[in-house]
Amino acid sequence: MPISWALLLLPILSTTTVLGARRGSQSNFRIINGTPISISDAPWQVSIQVLGYHICGGSILSSKIIITAAHCVFYVPALLLQVRAGSKYWKDGGQLIDVAQVKRHANYGTDPTKNDIALLRLSQRLYFTRNIDRIRLAKQTPESGEKASVSGWGQKKENATVGSRDLHMASLRIIDRKSCQASNYAKLRKIVTEGMICAESGDRDACQGDSGGPLVVDNQLVGIVSWGIGCARKGHPGVYTDIAYYRKWIFKYVRRQE
Ligand code: ARG
Repeated sequence: MPISWALLLLPILSTTTVLGARRGSQSNFRIINGTPISISDAPWQVSIQVLGYHICGGSILSSKIIITAAHCVFYVPALLLQVRAGSKYWKDGGQLIDVAQVKRHANYGTDPTKNDIALLRLSQRLYFTRNIDRIRLAKQTPESGEKASVSGWGQKKENATVGSRDLHMASLRIIDRKSCQASNYAKLRKIVTEGMICAESGDRDACQGDSGGPLVVDNQLVGIVSWGIGCARKGHPGVYTDIAYYRKWIFKYVRRQE
C-alpha cells in the first residue's frame, strides 16, 4: 500500500483496530480521570510519533530500545517513526530520536488483541537524565488487587477527539485474567487470553492514544496499554499485554541488539 494511504490509516489503526469493528462511542484519546505529572515521575515514558504527531505511548528499556504495542506500529515503516523522551509534552522538549528498526511479535496479526507487543530500536542512544531513564521488566505477573499506575497522552474522555497536551497518570488495581474475562467481556465475546492482564478503578482508565504506554507496579513495567471497550466503562477493564509472560521474547531481542 502506498505510504500516503498507510498514513491515513494510522489514526484509525491506533484508535480502533484492537477493538475490531468500530463501535459507537469507543473511538476516542488521554488517560481518563488521571492527574498531570511531570516526566521525572515516569522518566521511562515516551511518545511515539509519525510525522510529528503523537500516535502512541512507549517505555524505555535501554538507551536504544523502546517497548510498545504491536498495533501502534502495524503498517508503519520505521523511517516514519520517531520517539520523544524526557518531556511531559508530546509536542516539544526532551530528545526526539528516529527509529531505526521495528520488531513486532511474529504472531501478531489476525487478532490484533493478541501478542500486542513490539520493540523499537532507536537510531541513536538516549542520553539518560533525571527525566529520561529505563524501566525494569517485571519478572512475575502482578497479583489481583495490586496497585498499578498507567500514564500517557491519550484522551481524557471516551468521546473526545484529541489527546492530551501534557502527560497524565492514573492509579488502578490489577484484576486477574479470569475475573477480567468474566466481566462484560465474556458477554461481548472478547477473549482475555494468556499474555493479557487487566486493570481498572472506578472512573479511571487508559484510553485511545495511551496505547503502547506503561502499566507500572513498584517502578517495574508489568503491562502495555493494549485494548478495552470504550474507556472507564463499568465492567469493562483496561486490558494490557502481560510483560512477565513475554519476558523471554523481549530478552531474546534485546540481547541480540545490544
Ligand atoms: N487501543 C487504544 C489505543 O490505541 C488503547 C485502549 C485502551 N483502552 C482502555 N479502555 N484501557 O490507544
